[in-house]
Amino acid sequence: MTPMPDPTVLLARAGARATITIHRPDKLNALDAAAIDELRRVLLDVRQDASVRAVVITGSGSKAFVAGADIGELAALDPIAARAMAARGQHVFDLVEQLGKPVIAAVNGYALGGGCELVLACTLRIASDAAKFGQPEINLGLIPGYGGTQRLPRLVGKGRALDLLLRGSTIDAQEALRIGLVDRVVPAGELMTSAETLADELATKAPQAVRAILEAVNRGLDLPLADGLRHEAALFGLVAATADMKEGTRAFLDKRAPVFTGQ
Ligand code: COA
Repeated sequence: MTPMPDPTVLLARAGARATITIHRPDKLNALDAAAIDELRRVLLDVRQDASVRAVVITGSGSKAFVAGADIGELAALDPIAARAMAARGQHVFDLVEQLGKPVIAAVNGYALGGGCELVLACTLRIASDAAKFGQPEINLGLIPGYGGTQRLPRLVGKGRALDLLLRGSTIDAQEALRIGLVDRVVPAGELMTSAETLADELATKAPQAVRAILEAVNRGLDLPLADGLRHEAALFGLVAATADMKEGTRAFLDKRAPVFTGQ
């Protein structure tokens, strides 16, 4: 019998928190096709599991979050396969962005190429002070294919994005913080605790309101303001129908902490 290959994406649970670890340490967690497919499977599991209310994504080991798409695979692509690969990766990173629950990137080292694009698709981003970021595809004669040309300018602005995309330079965590590519930088030894504490805090919030905020922001950024506001009002109406909204407002009036059930 052929032995099963080692998993390249690990899933761990603690309470309402799921932690996804990209695990190809000998290749600095570079995402090959198998890892992208495993990541998709794990994300679908996490999405349908109502007991998961927040997710942390990180990379195995201390050196890399994800050092990009697998360059060995890239080198062998023909144009049709390359287009299909980009579409597949974009679909999986869309799943991250549209999971309906917060996904926190715990960036423990190199986040290059597809790794930086995975960070961009996450809801919130915490970097270790040893993390490094970049979109080096230009140095391979390529362009980002997993959303980098679209999400990077939306997050850090057009000029800063073009600087990173065209120069293919690598920046450190402090510079990533300065340009808004990450939200926080912490000492390497505190990274996972910080990400887990944030995830656990978000996991206590009313899940349907969390989902509605994520949808309103993600969809709204692609809409004219008037359409975005209309969408916000519709979601506001839906959330007002939840038991958690009744609980949240009642708890405030009763001067006690709310207990949200997801109903
Ligand atoms: N795809 C495939 N393999 C990769 C990889 C990638 N994106 N990034 C690193 N690796 C592999 C290396 O080939 C090496 O494998 P080997 O031991 O079998 O030779 C192993 O991971 C360790 O990497 P190495 O380059 O020896 O480490 P380093 O500390 O000298 O350099 C980096 C670290 C991140 C600067 C360097 O690995 C790098 O530039 N990687 C590519 C980054 C990139 O261009 N990503 C975008 C791809 S679209």
